[in-house]
Amino acid sequence: MAVDLLLGLQWGDEGKGKIVDVLTSKYNIIARFQGGPNAGHTLVFNGRKHVLHTIPSGIFHDDATNLVGNGVVIDPVIFKKELDKLEEQDVDYRKSLLVSRKAHIILPTHRLLDAASEASKGKAKIGSTLKGIGPTYMDKTGRNGIRVGDLELSDWKERYRALADKHESMIDFYDVDIEYDLAELEKEFFEAVDVLKSIKFIDSEEYMYQAQKSGKTILAEGAQGSLLDIDFGTYPYVTSSNTTAAGACTGLGVSPSQIGDVFGIFKAYTTRVGSGPFPTELFDEDGATMSRVGNEFGATTGRPRRCGWLDLVALRYACQVNGVTQLMMMKGDVLSGFKTLKVCTAYNYKGDIIKHFPYNIDPENVEPIFTEFKGWNEDLTAMSEVNQLPKELNAYIEFLEKELEIPITIVSVGPDRKQTIFRS
Ligand code: GDP
Ligand code: IMO
Ligand code: MG
Repeated sequence: MAVDLLLGLQWGDEGKGKIVDVLTSKYNIIARFQGGPNAGHTLVFNGRKHVLHTIPSGIFHDDATNLVGNGVVIDPVIFKKELDKLEEQDVDYRKSLLVSRKAHIILPTHRLLDAASEASKGKAKIGSTLKGIGPTYMDKTGRNGIRVGDLELSDWKERYRALADKHESMIDFYDVDIEYDLAELEKEFFEAVDVLKSIKFIDSEEYMYQAQKSGKTILAEGAQGSLLDIDFGTYPYVTSSNTTAAGACTGLGVSPSQIGDVFGIFKAYTTRVGSGPFPTELFDEDGATMSRVGNEFGATTGRPRRCGWLDLVALRYACQVNGVTQLMMMKGDVLSGFKTLKVCTAYNYKGDIIKHFPYNIDPENVEPIFTEFKGWNEDLTAMSEVNQLPKELNAYIEFLEKELEIPITIVSVGPDRKQTIFRS
């Protein structure tokens, strides 16, 4: 059976968690393939909101198996907190949650290094979530990291000590003021490692291979978004993993020939949290309205998200890099009440009109060119059928489908599971 992928096409927070939850009933296995607790995936059902950081978004479905893949980086402290919350809600995760032995562990000192690196950058800081993501992936590629499977070895604490000591000298090297009590952090860390060790560790690529062979249906869940990809995003203002489709192959051990559908999720407008260029960003009343109505605050850090119009140049690029086969448009309801909507269809790049996403999208090089659309006033949040959607929204959707040459198969009109409209 082919593996379907679901990934964000913008700068993250597109609504991946919601849609994975909506689609889980069609799949046997939900597998997270990259990122770590920098992610915050929100699910809303039965009047309750749940935010997941490391655990796949299929966890609330009894019949699904949820795998944390080898491409993910795990902070045991945050992982334990997620498990505690699930326990409070009587979710029986012990039978449905699996962790790859090849996933890397975020140490307390990785978080401190993240803070030191950001502090040393001053105004040029990335705006990291400070969860230790960059330093952990650096240790992975530098071949120094500690993996989940290492926790089963008798000498893992010695390895831990050697790496943490090295990190402490690196923190000194940054020469910035970072206050911390490592003994306190380590106490919390070791307790959480014991909890992590109570979850089933597996050789996940073998598990994935056998699952595909035996006809299991699998959905791979991405984190972040394509414009935060370490290779294809707005470098250096990106995260440290491949958030794009290829990341699912390396992050789960799935062969490229086994990828089926690629579901690309995007908001009907654009948001970004953290630093970095954002050509269609709004600094006016329209941006403030998107932020207020869309409740645009980070699910992991609570920081306000920057808001702007939809950028088709960036979206087309993301569709190309990922090979998107179906699009899902989120938060259409937030645009109700705008008299006019704008979509960026090209860039004025140093005087030339271009439609591709260039190497550098800094404001001095790029000026967005907009097409305007008539807005709608209807409240979409109680709608459940395609034929209820206002004609102006249909015109907006059809324009995007034509420009991107990919069908939009889901229109989301609210945070709840039920506020999801399927289009054929
Ligand atoms: P993720 O990281 O891609 O899973 O997205 P986040 O959970 O970080 O951010 C998406 C936010 O939008 C969450 O607060 C969701 O509850 C909310 N949301 C998702 N879909 C919709 C929608 O269609 N309309 C509205 N108004 N909110 C939505
Ligand atoms: P989900 O999965 C939005 C952003 C940070 C920062 C940059 C690098 O919820 O969509 P990092 O902590 O990775 O070093 O931060 O990436 N970022 C996200 N923005 N959603 C996310 O995840 C993000 N994960 C990281 O704000 O700009
Ligand atoms: Mg998020």
